Amino acid sequence: MQQEGRVFPPDRKTSSGAHIKSLAQYRKLYRESIENPDKFWGKVANTELVWMKPWKKVLTFKAPHAKWFAGGHLNVSANCLDKHLATGTANKAALIWEGEPAGLGAVGEERVLTYRQLHREVCLFANVLKKHGIVKGDRVIIYLPMIPEAAIAMLACTRIGAIHSVVFGGFSAQSVADRIFDCQAKMVITSDGGFRRGAIVPLKKSVDESLVLVDSTGKLLAQTINKVVVVRRTANPVHFEPGRDVWWHEEMNTVSPECPPVKMESESPLFILYTSGSTGKPKGILHSTAGYLLGATMTSKYVFDLRETDVYWCTADIGWVTGHSYVVYGPLANGATSLMYEGAPNFPEPDRFWRIIAKYGVSIFYTAPTAIRAFMKWGNEWPKKHDLSSLRLLGSVGEPINPEAWMWYHEVIGGKRCPIVDTWWQTETGSIMITPLPGATPTKPGSATLPFFGIVPEVVDDHGKPVPKNAGGKLVIRKPWPSMLRGIWGDTKRFKETYWTEVKGSYFTGDGCRQDKDGYFWIVGRIDDVLNVAGHRIGTAEVESALVSHPSVAEAAVVGRPDALKGQALVVFVTLKMGVIAHPGLRDELRKHVAKEIGPVAKPDDIRFAEALPKTRSGKIMRRLLKQVACGGEIKGDTTTLEDLSVLEKLGSSEG
Ligand code: WT7
Repeated sequence: MQQEGRVFPPDRKTSSGAHIKSLAQYRKLYRESIENPDKFWGKVANTELVWMKPWKKVLTFKAPHAKWFAGGHLNVSANCLDKHLATGTANKAALIWEGEPAGLGAVGEERVLTYRQLHREVCLFANVLKKHGIVKGDRVIIYLPMIPEAAIAMLACTRIGAIHSVVFGGFSAQSVADRIFDCQAKMVITSDGGFRRGAIVPLKKSVDESLVLVDSTGKLLAQTINKVVVVRRTANPVHFEPGRDVWWHEEMNTVSPECPPVKMESESPLFILYTSGSTGKPKGILHSTAGYLLGATMTSKYVFDLRETDVYWCTADIGWVTGHSYVVYGPLANGATSLMYEGAPNFPEPDRFWRIIAKYGVSIFYTAPTAIRAFMKWGNEWPKKHDLSSLRLLGSVGEPINPEAWMWYHEVIGGKRCPIVDTWWQTETGSIMITPLPGATPTKPGSATLPFFGIVPEVVDDHGKPVPKNAGGKLVIRKPWPSMLRGIWGDTKRFKETYWTEVKGSYFTGDGCRQDKDGYFWIVGRIDDVLNVAGHRIGTAEVESALVSHPSVAEAAVVGRPDALKGQALVVFVTLKMGVIAHPGLRDELRKHVAKEIGPVAKPDDIRFAEALPKTRSGKIMRRLLKQVACGGEIKGDTTTLEDLSVLEKLGSSEG
């Protein structure tokens, strides 16, 4: 468990210009937000959002179902774009984009879209969606690289009330097909490819594959898809299916730039984003319009303490919730300049991020601990080559940041001058929940510190009772908040079971946590069967089911092992089917198989063949023991329920 080390008080310069200027001011506002949530949320909903029809009631909550701002009408794209057109923000850069390919001299291609230009593109593309039969409530899959079209497509969906589901470009054809099937999507928006470390990721090819995949009964998974819109990005040749596939750039020339935003109800579904859980099937996390937008907007403003002149860069891919809330919706709703970079941090060289910061004068930089640890490994000479003096605020998200990485980030990247906001939240929470506010909250390396306004986290025991200070327990959220998930698409039962039954009446986060004497929260990590590999959530069951779908595999168990770079590494134990003999090539084959089934993010780091897996007498795999084996440690603790002890001895020597 982390030790409380140094405390970093906010510096005077940050505080004086900040939205929230002191801890006392934060505490006062926080208390008000908790004591009178209706008043608090009602007020910010009116000041932060533009409504087409005023809402009537702040909250109706019958656990686990919440309705926020019932009776109100609004549109997300209008809040992110139209709102700014009558102001000086209209001609400010909304998106600054840099492509990955390295040009001569200056590195990278650039595109800048002002709010006015972005608005026009969004209106045009919204009309393309309409032209191809997409109406309010339809689901649209977005499977794109980090290019402006990704944000344009998302915003265009919200403009006409279509529900987008962005699938990370690193996911496989199978994952695309599964998601299409789960949400019964009508359209896929993709590109001929995207650049990654100099190579082309063939996204359209994956889409083509996904559209012919069948389930176990031979039925097409993607039966509902009738249009594929393809962005030309890499100009590599792609297959084109007449009648089904259309080019983005051609379609944009066939429609009008007039597209009034559709009035959406506060609770209208906004997007679905799939995330791993503790069963084999990813969950379609559903977010709704007003609450989500309010959460993303408010947290962007206060946590990043956005100012007029900021150049803000969140390095997350739009395939993750961080890319939704903090590349697109939050910054744009605030009229900020959001930077988007297409490629890898080490292409063509390990200083690409620092080059970008210096080139555009980035002032706020938000990234993940796994990236920070990679930068540390690559060496200080890379950031040292560049002028990073434009930075004034740093952020971290995705997993606990180890104090050593925090200190490095603070000293080498932040020049000891930039506050660090370590932000805890989840796909399900929609926006940041536990976080320092720069200028107000003293920080402690490794702690996400204190709750955001209106958020009531608590650390509890197995019976839901609060644990004493400094004791470990489960992190729950006691009160509903606007950007909370509204459900799992098509699976209310799972929604209730996963989040609302563990601790009655509260939202269960799945994270272990501890609160110190100052009330600071220290996230320990997941306590369910979910691993956090390089900031990506990976369900062990999902990887296991991918492994057993391989013809050679009989059984599989997946556990996490601490990893200096990725936080956790995926260690896989497999038993093979009768007659199959383990050979070195098989290990590679299985890694490829998992990548094909789920995507490269889920590739096992270590595959061990075993004669049998340790099981309890009731047949449950004893992961606790496998974890110890994976970590190279001695087998400790109770093995009395183990069915066949000899299995354990063999496991230790199964490498090879
Ligand atoms: C899980 C959520 C939310 C954006 C990225 C991940 C872990 C996230 C932190 C943090 C410690 C963190 C938790 C959480 N996590 N941020 N600042 N400190 N842990 O979204 O894929 O939904 O994963 O990531 O375990 O439950 P996600």
